[in-house]
Amino acid sequence: MSNINVTLQEGILTLEMNRADKKNALTRQMYQAMADTLNEANQDPQVRVVRLTAAGSCFTAGNDISDFANRDEGNQVAEVSAFMRALVECRHPVVAQVHGMAVGIGTTLLLHCDLVYCEPEVKFVLPFINLGLVPEYASSYLLPKLAGRRKASEWLMLGEPFGADEAQQFGLVSGVVEASQLADKVAQVCQSLAAKPQFALSHTKALLDNDKDAVEQQINVEMDLFIEAMGTEAAQEAFDAFLNKRPVNRDKFR
Ligand code: COA
Repeated sequence: MSNINVTLQEGILTLEMNRADKKNALTRQMYQAMADTLNEANQDPQVRVVRLTAAGSCFTAGNDISDFANRDEGNQVAEVSAFMRALVECRHPVVAQVHGMAVGIGTTLLLHCDLVYCEPEVKFVLPFINLGLVPEYASSYLLPKLAGRRKASEWLMLGEPFGADEAQQFGLVSGVVEASQLADKVAQVCQSLAAKPQFALSHTKALLDNDKDAVEQQINVEMDLFIEAMGTEAAQEAFDAFLNKRPVNRDKFR
């Protein structure tokens, strides 16, 4: 079971992360299922819009930390990478519906969505620094462009949660909508997009993505560092502390 629910209705392809008991922490299987679905959607004339959403109380708690801790040499991030590249390469507009928490890659991936709506109580966090890790998937390039260098430094170097108002002020989200109306709002936006002329819509998206080479280059630079960082004592300590529900030994954060 992939823990990803996929439905296609009136041109709107919905991907729902569904591993609620683990706060939708993303496993390799989940990444691969989303990658395959997005890649197939690029070839499917029935698909006009992609909607990304989640079951349970949390959008996603980010990468499954036990997958991080049990890395096998040479193939640590293959499925994550397959998903993120499929998202970057998606020719349809992608609309994200965020509630609860969006942790780590759950926030990073929003930088590659076209429209993002969240509820007022949502929390975003890019905790990589606290796990001994570095930014990923061009967030160190896209966030300064979006939010300014100062705010990007704060989010990436302090790694503390921030809320919906700040996310909207600095351009991470398109809109903040009451929790009870969030799904309807996103459905309306997706319906509007699905009704637009498809040639113009997909080319508008492509024209907005006019720095793909720079994004690609930064993804590669970050990925080499990320894989190296996963093997450091600090990262191994952070993963082990989370998995064993104990405080981090700060002596190992050197
Ligand atoms: N990887 C693996 N398991 C995770 C997880 C993750 N990223 N996030 C949550 N879980 C698991 C917990 O271990 C717990 O499992 P258990 O019921 O078997 O003990 C279950 O999901 C529920 O999580 P819990 O921590 O009890 O929920 P919470 O509401 O108290 O806290 C979070 C939610 C998201 C704040 C907290 O789970 C968290 O900090 N997760 C790690 C986030 C993270 O660092 N992600 C990696 C980013 S690169």
